[in-house]
Amino acid sequence: MSKAYKPSPLISTSVSALKGKVTVPGDKSISHRALMLSSQAIGVSTVKGLLESEDVIHTAKALQMMGVGIARKGNVWKVNGLGTGGLQEPEGVLDMGNSGTAARLMMGLVSPYDFASTFDGDASLRKRPMKRATLPLEKMGVEIISREGGLMPITIRGTSETLPITYEVPVASAQVKSAVLMAALNTQGVTTVIEKTPTRDHTERMLKGMGADIKVKKEKGRVVIKLRGQPELKAQNIVVPADPSSAAFLIVAALITPKSEVTVTNVCMNIHRTGLFTTLKEMGANIAFKNKRTVAGEEVADIVAKTSKLKGVKVPAKRAASMIDEYPILSIAASFAKGKTEMLGLEELRVKESDRLSAIARGLESCGVKIKEGKDSLIVFGADKVKGGGNIKTHMDHRIAMSFLVMGMVSEKPVTVDDGSMINTSFPDFAKLMNKLGAKIKSSK
Ligand code: S3P
Repeated sequence: MSKAYKPSPLISTSVSALKGKVTVPGDKSISHRALMLSSQAIGVSTVKGLLESEDVIHTAKALQMMGVGIARKGNVWKVNGLGTGGLQEPEGVLDMGNSGTAARLMMGLVSPYDFASTFDGDASLRKRPMKRATLPLEKMGVEIISREGGLMPITIRGTSETLPITYEVPVASAQVKSAVLMAALNTQGVTTVIEKTPTRDHTERMLKGMGADIKVKKEKGRVVIKLRGQPELKAQNIVVPADPSSAAFLIVAALITPKSEVTVTNVCMNIHRTGLFTTLKEMGANIAFKNKRTVAGEEVADIVAKTSKLKGVKVPAKRAASMIDEYPILSIAASFAKGKTEMLGLEELRVKESDRLSAIARGLESCGVKIKEGKDSLIVFGADKVKGGGNIKTHMDHRIAMSFLVMGMVSEKPVTVDDGSMINTSFPDFAKLMNKLGAKIKSSK
């Protein structure tokens, strides 16, 4: 059902230096939420800096199929909000492409409606666990029809009589938390979501900015979120900051490439997203955060990264949620660090766009890096020189592709990735931007 999948191999060759000042595209998590929550406001919201990648476009198209007017005017996206309860039954299947965030949050959004909607995605998304999102939705009263194991394609038979529930999220997942909050938006009464491990809070922040009755409290180390349903959300002018998960590739590339200095501007510094920066600092990275400010409810900064001598560290499990998408690129940094880097609490990496733990481990081995893979842990033994030369299996995972292209900038032999097309899901101009800084990434067909 997704368009035909055409792998496009890329090769990255070593470079002498990376230099420049750039901005990376808008934050993916905030972009999805900007479209979805604006669709529930009354009137026209504007979104500046929206990430125009495949993942986010899937969210926009799904909303359009349910009657939401979404259009780009110049460099601003306009979303004609219909208010909570305003969506219409989609006539066709909602294609979520490669995006777990789009799928899980949209499933929540459509739940409190008296209509059926069917979700599908690409081969990667069809393998990913969806029960974590559909289980609380079932508790709210909707009917779920799925493939064996709760997998997509999934049909949600919604109801306008969803029940407000109290739900403790069993895994550290902002997607699951947000799926319940999306459903709670159009549910009468107060829904409570409890997190044992705090995760990115963009949904909560944006809802607050739009005038929702949402209360977030810390209680005995847990986060308790209470959202009163059916608020009148005010249309907003949203400014999406640059994505720290995309900036991460440029920052690590600058740290490990000789004679480099790269500035990435306007990066989202939400505390639930900055675990990689904390870790890199502990590794001895020369990174500075300049011009710190708050834009549209999120903290942002300009980040300057310079070539650094890194040392291995132990990354505690409790930091995992705040850098969950950054382990692939951290593993590349760790390959060039002195000593070993131990990463713990990685069980969620097994259910990302690929089994990322395995994809990283196999990729590093094929480039001559010594590793030890555990069930939920990874040890990378760093070295002065990395052989490279691997042909990396990316398993339809954009972050595996980008990480190993960064490795090729520094390794002795070039690194090839079997498919760079998935980079379009989150960072369409990755190769162009990297090459502007001095990288040598090209098609290897
Ligand atoms: C996201 C949450 C994280 C992250 C994903 C985006 C979000 O997933 O890995 O890239 O926007 O809520 P989980 O919630 O499954 O950990």
